[in-house]
Amino acid sequence: MKKRYLLGVFLLSCFIAKGQDSTIKSSVKNVEAKVDSVLALMTLEEKVGQLVQYNGSWDLTGPASEMNNKQKEENLKAGKVGAMLNVLSVEATREAQKLVMENSRLKIPLMFGYDVIHGYTTIFPVPLAETASWDLEAMERTAEIAAVESAANGVNWTFSPMIDVSRDARWGRIMEGSGEDPYLTSKVAVAKVKGYQSNDLANPRSIAATAKHFAGYGFGEAGRDYNTVHIGENELHNTILPPFKEAAKAGVATFMNAFNDIDGTPATAHKTLQRDILKKEWDWDGFVVSDWGSIPEMIAHGLARDKKHAAQIALNAGSDMDMEGGAYESSLVSLVEEGKVSQEYIDDAVKRVLRVKFKLGLFDDPYLYSNPELLENISFEEHKNVARDVAKKSIVLLKNENDLLPIQDSIKKIAVIGPLADDKDTPIGNWRAQGEANSAVSLLEGLKNNMNEDVEISYAKGANLGMGERSFLMPLKINETDTSGFQEAINKASEADLVIMALGEDAFQTGEGRSQVDVGLAGVQQDLLEEIRKVNKNIVLVLINGRPMEITYASENIPAIVEAWQLGSESGNAIADVLLGDYNPSGKLPVSFPRAVGQEPLYYNQKSTGRPSNPTHVTYSGYTDEKKDALYPFGFGLSYTSFEYGDLTISEEEFTPGSPIEVSFSLSNTGEKEGKEIVQLYIKDIVASTTRPIKELKGFEAVSLAPGETKTVTFEINEEMLQFYTANEKWESEAGEFEVMVGGNSRDLQTVKFSLKK
Ligand code: NOJ
Repeated sequence: MKKRYLLGVFLLSCFIAKGQDSTIKSSVKNVEAKVDSVLALMTLEEKVGQLVQYNGSWDLTGPASEMNNKQKEENLKAGKVGAMLNVLSVEATREAQKLVMENSRLKIPLMFGYDVIHGYTTIFPVPLAETASWDLEAMERTAEIAAVESAANGVNWTFSPMIDVSRDARWGRIMEGSGEDPYLTSKVAVAKVKGYQSNDLANPRSIAATAKHFAGYGFGEAGRDYNTVHIGENELHNTILPPFKEAAKAGVATFMNAFNDIDGTPATAHKTLQRDILKKEWDWDGFVVSDWGSIPEMIAHGLARDKKHAAQIALNAGSDMDMEGGAYESSLVSLVEEGKVSQEYIDDAVKRVLRVKFKLGLFDDPYLYSNPELLENISFEEHKNVARDVAKKSIVLLKNENDLLPIQDSIKKIAVIGPLADDKDTPIGNWRAQGEANSAVSLLEGLKNNMNEDVEISYAKGANLGMGERSFLMPLKINETDTSGFQEAINKASEADLVIMALGEDAFQTGEGRSQVDVGLAGVQQDLLEEIRKVNKNIVLVLINGRPMEITYASENIPAIVEAWQLGSESGNAIADVLLGDYNPSGKLPVSFPRAVGQEPLYYNQKSTGRPSNPTHVTYSGYTDEKKDALYPFGFGLSYTSFEYGDLTISEEEFTPGSPIEVSFSLSNTGEKEGKEIVQLYIKDIVASTTRPIKELKGFEAVSLAPGETKTVTFEINEEMLQFYTANEKWESEAGEFEVMVGGNSRDLQTVKFSLKK
């Protein structure tokens, strides 16, 4: 998604004003009074204008609109547009803003949105990978850096974080979220909102964030993008909504709705979600932007007759701004005149938009974010260091037979093999904003940069993975047949003490519209792996990928497996840090890895069913041809050292609301290296008014230990942690018995019981 169309209509000239005074934006007082005073001046047409968002001509992240640039320019001048997306650079945003500020009657500044998903120029791990660090501070910091770089390029609004809980490896956008767990996703949501927005939106180092996609988008049937979602109230409230509620509480400036239908109602038409829950019950005062064209898409859904009908349904349901759909601009005025949309709803939507613009400081200085000085003050070197740090923390060690890793001093000849070994582009991942193509440190480069000079490194690609055009919108062609590079790779592997194989997914195998029915090693990669193993079994498999993969063969036949995801700009250096033992891996999976794709959707916090297990008969809820659990479960990740959990003790076996209890245990580092363990706390509600998951994550902590060191870890258990959406249709706890479980992943846990008395 690089600057491809630099001759967009807004680059008519490059006037750049110097010396914007940012200090006047430091606080925005009396926003409500100001919003009301602007609203009072507005005509209906001008109000509708604030609810319209246009795409610029730089990046296309959805189907192209019918409107030409000339017409868009005229509409900007007439004050008929409230925001734009994909207008990139200080100059371009300034030009677009000028059209509004110098021509429209009320001069209401534009907002500029962009998909800054895991960095702007400096690229961090894709969000699923970053979540594997379980390091909320680091995740906040990368959002902050992304905001600084975006703001310095004219962008004041990111369409991030994506906080759709997803449990389906087939869904290509699973890479864009935080995985399968609502608690962990909620924590990441808050960290990201804080990082992007800081505590002052009007500071030109921060930008408005978006909680998306509201709601259910991660639950598309069969893992197919945009597909229908079948969920009931219980799943909606207990699994899907919690991260959104937390983001709203954290003050996220905007929400984006979703393309999917939920049980018969497209999210864009969902009044209960947008008006009743988000705006009323959660009392949230930002605005909801539609997803790209999701308003007119309700025609294809079969809910709206035409664009006008779609606009009526969407606005009445609480979708405030129309992203590139052309429905609001063509119909809202007449819909109000005909009494089909109320003036009150329009006013409410406009106030929400104005509120965010005031908070962003745009009324004080419309060019606040179009200031070249902002870019001059950035230390990209420092950002790179942060990228390396978070990347190494995101790596998950899945297998390490006979301590093959870290690479031992006795290893003198290493063969680096695989289509992704020297790939400088795939680690940048999809949704790469302005991350330069081919700009990542490849694994091969990382090893060469960091390895002792007396180690000989040879390299053979072995085969291609993605071929031909690789871009955001186009399908990716996979090499299914060409094995002509195999022999060279086999020769090099046979001469080496150790083989490092980099296999996985091309950057454009995951992301929007990239659903797959197979989540194994695509193309000829599996064959390559098997051929190499025939000549050298000392293999470290480094997986570079965006989604959870099916790697059963590797788990049975390859001694060491490192989940290195798509780690961003500093990928190769970070992987080298782990392979060479400069960093002891501490990442834990935020998603379950399946034994077979047929298990999907797969997740640890499932319900028990009435027939959870019966090993001797078929009449239980499982498969006849595969185990039902994950190959590598949620929360799993090894270290170069070993940790021992002492017995779990509980301060009281019974407690009442207001008097929390504690569980404690000792954690010892029983190995020889310093290490960090992410300890996890799960709770099971044994009997409740609705069925409950077999366990749910309710806490975690990173504990660092020197070799031989022991620490006592204590978690509080309070009444709030036991709340859920009950049969009474509200969040509350219920008295009764619970199990609390503690361990280093969602499978290997020790348990004690306690009860809540009310
Ligand atoms: C569609 C995607 O679903 C959404 O996440 C993104 O923000 C918009 N396109 C804008 O690119």
